[in-house]
Amino acid sequence: MSKNEIEKHVKGESLFVDDFTLPDRTWFASILDSPIAHGKIKHINIPADVRAFTYRDIPGENQIGNIIQDEHLLAEEEVNYIGEPIAIVVAETQEKAEADKRRIEFEFEEHEAVTEPREAFRRGMLIAPPVIFSIGNTEEAFNQCDYVIEDKVEIGGQEHLYLETQASIAIPGEDESVKIYSSTQSPTAVQRATAKVLGVAMNKVEVDVLRLGGGFGGKEDQATPWAAMCALAASLLNKPVKLRLSRQEDLRMTGKRHPYSADYKIGLTKEGKILAYEATFYQNAGACADLSTAILERTMFHATNSYFIPNVKTTGISCKTNLPPNTAFRGFGGPQAMFVIESAIFKAARQMNVEPYEIQRKNLLKEGDYFYYGQKVERCKVGKCWEGLEKNFVVSKKIEEIKKFNDSNKLFKKGFAFIPITFGISFTSKFLNQASALIHIYTDGSVGVSTAAVEMGQGVNEKIRIIVAKALGISLNKIKMETTNTTRAANTSPTAASSAADLNGNAALIAANELKKRLTETAGRILKTPGENIAIYKDKVWVGEKSSGINWEELVNRAYLMRVSLTEQAFYATPDIHFNRSVNKGRPFAYHVFGAAFVVSKIDVLRGVYEIEEVNVVHDYGESLNITIDKGQTEGGIVQGIGWLTLEELAQNEEGKLLSNSLSTYKIPDIYFTPKINIHFLEGSKNPYGPFKSKAIGEPPFMYGIGAYFSLLSAIKAYVGNIDFKIHSPLTPERALSLLSKKKLVKA
Ligand code: MTE
Ligand code: HPA
Ligand code: MOS
Repeated sequence: MSKNEIEKHVKGESLFVDDFTLPDRTWFASILDSPIAHGKIKHINIPADVRAFTYRDIPGENQIGNIIQDEHLLAEEEVNYIGEPIAIVVAETQEKAEADKRRIEFEFEEHEAVTEPREAFRRGMLIAPPVIFSIGNTEEAFNQCDYVIEDKVEIGGQEHLYLETQASIAIPGEDESVKIYSSTQSPTAVQRATAKVLGVAMNKVEVDVLRLGGGFGGKEDQATPWAAMCALAASLLNKPVKLRLSRQEDLRMTGKRHPYSADYKIGLTKEGKILAYEATFYQNAGACADLSTAILERTMFHATNSYFIPNVKTTGISCKTNLPPNTAFRGFGGPQAMFVIESAIFKAARQMNVEPYEIQRKNLLKEGDYFYYGQKVERCKVGKCWEGLEKNFVVSKKIEEIKKFNDSNKLFKKGFAFIPITFGISFTSKFLNQASALIHIYTDGSVGVSTAAVEMGQGVNEKIRIIVAKALGISLNKIKMETTNTTRAANTSPTAASSAADLNGNAALIAANELKKRLTETAGRILKTPGENIAIYKDKVWVGEKSSGINWEELVNRAYLMRVSLTEQAFYATPDIHFNRSVNKGRPFAYHVFGAAFVVSKIDVLRGVYEIEEVNVVHDYGESLNITIDKGQTEGGIVQGIGWLTLEELAQNEEGKLLSNSLSTYKIPDIYFTPKINIHFLEGSKNPYGPFKSKAIGEPPFMYGIGAYFSLLSAIKAYVGNIDFKIHSPLTPERALSLLSKKKLVKA
């Protein structure tokens, strides 16, 4: 009987890398990192009795860049951010490794640091050449508009704050091999980088992942350096090595969601139709590319959120700064793009003296429209979700109540906002849209399933179990999800882009269907009936409607004795996707996820403190595989999205030092800050690309959090009037107070 993740979590039975039983002779590593954001290493003096490895000890290449080869595993002559790894210090205990690290002396020549993307752009410090997406002719269209609004938006980053910090254990084996246990979303990325660093073939590196205590994108690319350092130390020492970052090290050394600075220009008719939109995104990439260019590309795809706009031009500029390399984070650049257009609509509504929702509703995507990158809008549900808000939550009544509240309250004001979402599902790099599954049925009828998916709290393992159980016709507890391991699933894409359940679930479904077919034929042979009369469900073999008297265990055992293979491996690649980067047009996404939310908030006008009171959502889940998981993902995403735009503020000083470097200075939403979340599952949505017609869920709900920001602005507006605010996220209580102080008070 195999338990599901939830049961293991609540019983405290689930294991994470830090819980693993260590082999004898395991050593511990601690990383010496740069204390300056930019400069030259003049010298490092490692005492003779300290075991430490620098880039000079690397037998292979000192290069771990994923998309662009621009990232050293260990710094050479130059350092480019505070927290950049310089040396790996190892010892028999963690305490000794840390004490030894403090005995290393070094000297730097410090250079000026650049932390702002626009400043980096002015100096020509770019990760890659700018990209442009466009349709129609914005210049001509602006001339026909009754309203043209231009402004700037500042968007803060976000710390992933996965509960489990970056961690790995590496165990050297024979013939230059190494086995790595890593908390990574991308076992193959760890395998590939480690092989390169060690100068060995990929088949010498085995990566195994049990589960993650959260990833949220922060372990898509950035689990790799720690695993590779751990493996490097293990291989050089010829001993097992464990490397786990402390919370403060993790906060200091790893990249975050990209802060953006953006300019936009939006043009509308007096009826509120958006005719043209331009945006320039300055992405703060940090010191190396990491996934920044792919993230910026998703920003471009989501620049128009859920709206049809006939003339669009967007420019994306990835700027190199002296900060840790920023990386994937739930939404992958989409949230920043959607925040910018929502800012533009908020400002336009102010100018036109209408409510933002009037503009939003008028421009919602419709079936058969085209996204500005050339994809046709198919099975469009955003209008249905928007209408569903009135049907299910009677939001018009809520708006009236808010107005009444504001008329009769001086010290508190309420606000509201609508937020539609449309999120493209598929990796935007086409080749990543593939996955494999390997299913073994053992002679006692129990089943082991290996895929490329990594369980990180999002429930992908449970979804795959459900798919396999449904396909085989057996109960869930017969099915065990195995670890994600590079020898059982090779050349894996990261568990990311909300696509893990789709890609791996579809691969598992193909394998399970093949096994089912084989076992049905076998049952036919045993029962001397044609296979088409046989059905397997409820753990039994049926002939027509009648039980055959043979149960699953017996069937499996008989099949084994008849020498029928009880193993199947399958591969899935998403069909119908393509994208031409020379013109930036195509059909990059298999499908889109749609939804709409209505967010209510309340602010204390004297103190600037606020509450997000409720989030009402109508969301398109397709045919949900598991309502509890999908609800959990929706709630978690919403709270994380609200946190990004309200409480969570990353602060750096001008020297690039992270000031919000602990949980006393970096505030995340807790259960008391969590609003009441009401979710309605949109009916009648069937997704041809998802297993059993389901839809991806991991990232899209994050973007409902944007509604919290504009709901708060609406509350502030109810107090200060229709003045022109600067849009700068996160809207911390301090920033809210500064906006509230713009009210012109009439002297008595
Ligand atoms: N949910 C939990 N509990 N923990 C996580 O780390 N990551 C999110 C989302 N939900 C995450 C999560 C991100 S960034 C992605 S891309 C998806 O889960 C990935 O999993 P999926 O493809 O199985 O949805
Ligand atoms: N999402 C997440 N990770 C990715 C993507 C994406 O679209 N493309 C490449 N890595
Ligand atoms: Mo998610 S940001 O694609 O790991």
